[in-house]
Amino acid sequence: MSESITITDNRTGESREIPIVNGGVAASEFSKLLPGVWLYDPAFMSTAACESAITYLDGEAGVLQYRGYPIEQLAESSNYLEVAYLLLNGELPTAQEYDAWSHEITYHTFIHENVRKRFLEGFHYDAHPMGMLVSAVAALSTFYHDAKDISDPQNLHKQIVRLIAKMPTLAAGAHRFSVGMPFVYPDNELDFCSNFLSMMWKVAEPHYEADPILSKALDTLFILHADHEQNCGTTAMRTVASAHADPYSATAAAAAALYGPRHGGANEAVIRMLTEIGSIDNVAAYVEGVKAGKVRLQGFGHRVYKSYDPRATIIKKTADDVFAVTGKNPLLDIALKLEEIALSDDYFISRKLYPNVDFYSGLIYQAMGFPLEMFTVLFAIPRTAGWLAHMKELLEQDMKITRPRQLYVGPDVRTYVPMESR
Ligand code: CMC
Repeated sequence: MSESITITDNRTGESREIPIVNGGVAASEFSKLLPGVWLYDPAFMSTAACESAITYLDGEAGVLQYRGYPIEQLAESSNYLEVAYLLLNGELPTAQEYDAWSHEITYHTFIHENVRKRFLEGFHYDAHPMGMLVSAVAALSTFYHDAKDISDPQNLHKQIVRLIAKMPTLAAGAHRFSVGMPFVYPDNELDFCSNFLSMMWKVAEPHYEADPILSKALDTLFILHADHEQNCGTTAMRTVASAHADPYSATAAAAAALYGPRHGGANEAVIRMLTEIGSIDNVAAYVEGVKAGKVRLQGFGHRVYKSYDPRATIIKKTADDVFAVTGKNPLLDIALKLEEIALSDDYFISRKLYPNVDFYSGLIYQAMGFPLEMFTVLFAIPRTAGWLAHMKELLEQDMKITRPRQLYVGPDVRTYVPMESR
């Protein structure tokens, strides 16, 4: 075999040649020679836990593709709903398929009145909107008992439509509650993003008209965030879905992972950092602090991308479009200076640290008027399509329940000591 590895069990002298397929070797082949010997891989740094045909990512080359289509082409020519269809079904829709899909999503945007009245409005007055979203998504499973039958593809499809459609309604509802504004019902005349903006910002006007440039910019951001292969949230999704939990409970688990500041919260951290720097004059000193290891440059670096994050390049152009409407975010100049200094400094060059998607997305969200607490919520809305695509794929693959092994490092067996003798 040309592409293979050979492992030898030195206890027995037995060898086995294992083919390298698509850059990986099957652990099941190891196990044939070494039963009971585990591959120890904390945080899955070197483990592929599944086969997936949804998203391709080459971090060295800065490549991101959904179902084979480059992210640049999708961001330029597609829209979020079409991308969601592509992720879920593997192919771009025909005009007829798109109309049917878009109609289905539009007509499932309403939430049960009790989700709003008894559930959302039952939160404490200062509840974080992301905490509300995670809980509300999980609560939906108690409203849709049919959701448990995940073996029926048509039934699963109905839950997928409900989730993608209701996410913006729940997100905007959480925001309105947190700022003491009345809930705004979905408007079926509007497209996906314009409807979300209407539910966010409508006040007394009979019909809210979002600025088409802002609506388009949000749609582009939703495309960029729709999927990113086996990140922490998607791994949570696949793990919970592998237990055959219903799609609402599994999506809530994925959203809970996204809530973590190491995952979906970096764009918020970028704004806090730029605000702390405060002026262009302070940028050089801040970079020195980063190099001295005092702080990390938020929105820089990535576990996978080591040349550039292709999403960051697209987002920079989107930022220009948004600022032409909203006026420039005053933090932009600090961000540009920071990028300029960092990209010419050997500390960042030698470590392959480049701006990631979060470096500019927060600036856009802030310029559009979203409060910082909504940034992760804005990530969760489009990522729902990616999470559900992975759940659908996993069920079609008839995957076993996720159940890794551990290396036990605790005490050997010992005898229980009664409390009075300790
Ligand atoms: N600022 C300064 N130094 C950094 C940074 C940074 N943002 N990121 C990495 N480094 C340094 C790090 O100190 C280390 O240096 P040394 O070798 O001297 O110890 C080296 O680069 C490698 O870092 P690492 O922590 O091993 O890299 P990682 O792959 O584990 O971490 C990361 C990736 C994204 C967590 C990290 O780059 C980071 O903390 N970035 C800031 C937070 C951020 O922007 N997160 C958003 C990621 S994109 C969102 C998404 O795709 O979902």
